[in-house]
Amino acid sequence: MNSYFEIRDLKVSFKTFEGVKRVIDLDSLDINKGETFGLVGESGTGKSVLAMTILRLLPMPPAIIESGQIFFDGEELLSKKEDELRKFRGRRIAMIFQDPMSTLNPVFTVGEQMIRVIVNNEGISRKEAEKKALQMVELVKLPDPKEVLKKYPHELSGGQRQRVIIAIALSCGAEFLIADEPTRNLDVTIQAGILKLLHELQKEFKMTTLFIANNLGLVSAICNRVGIFYKGKIVEVGTVREIIRSHKHPYTETLLNAVPRDGGGNIIVPKLLSNESGPESNNGCSYYDRCPLRDKICKEANPPLRNVTGTHYVACHKAE
Ligand SMILES: Nc1ncnc2c1ncn2[C@@H]1O[C@H](COP(=O)(O)OP(=O)(O)OP(=O)(O)O)[C@@H](O)[C@H]1O
Ligand SMILES: [Mg+2]
Repeated sequence: MNSYFEIRDLKVSFKTFEGVKRVIDLDSLDINKGETFGLVGESGTGKSVLAMTILRLLPMPPAIIESGQIFFDGEELLSKKEDELRKFRGRRIAMIFQDPMSTLNPVFTVGEQMIRVIVNNEGISRKEAEKKALQMVELVKLPDPKEVLKKYPHELSGGQRQRVIIAIALSCGAEFLIADEPTRNLDVTIQAGILKLLHELQKEFKMTTLFIANNLGLVSAICNRVGIFYKGKIVEVGTVREIIRSHKHPYTETLLNAVPRDGGGNIIVPKLLSNESGPESNNGCSYYDRCPLRDKICKEANPPLRNVTGTHYVACHKAE
């Protein structure tokens, strides 16, 4: 084990009326210390379920973690007891959720919520926490920070709320940040501002980041490496350059084609795709039904991730 963060053989399912549905079937995922790793896939492929599995925030039941190991800085998280896990949640591993309103409590002011989190996680006095909350709101570049602290979440815009969430996530000094589509519901200019902020903060605090998105354009702006996620599996992984310029998997091609470009051919705006089913129960490739390159072997055997270069891996029988 060499990586700072590693997932091995993770299988996560949900109990539904139609039976048990497997959503995550991930052989391996490695993130090195200090890097920003982008996980990209369409809607419904299991990105949020994966993020929530890391800190065991899934509702269990209906979720079932069938097997797997998640190592963080040498410690295995899935075998930890609930009270041990609390030492990681928020303090060492922070999470920014897709929807800021799911994190913010509508009945408390922003300041009150921030202070509570800081006091709870750091065990410092309320007065000290108040000072820290103000510093954090300044850090995420919200105008008029003192006023922001007095506001209720509904009095802020979507972009401002997401900045508050980032401030809360950073306030406890976590070293690993999981950002689950933090700019999903924001318009393009606001998205760019939030991405820039995250990028600056990530560099300043030397945080390791798992950045989840359904848009390769966003990811390529701030990540070092990218994993392409399809039906709960990584089907291709490589540096941003390898994925954008010399990708091998047909699904990566589809994702890239879904991203509109400007006149110079640069990727710009998100376009959401939808894919609502989980990993297939058959033995073949999970992309078989949609793949333009499919062949007999693709139906019979699930392709393992194989090495293209030292950093680039692809799970496809037909990739050159
Ligand atoms: N509580 C639940 N019960 C049953 N199935 C669930 C539950 N939560 C998620 N799922 C299923 O897990 C799959 C993956 O969902 P997930 O939210 O992780 O997708 P996602 O990749 O994050 O999509 P998006 O880009 O839209 O956020 C979906 O098919 C969803 O229906
Ligand atoms: Mg999601």
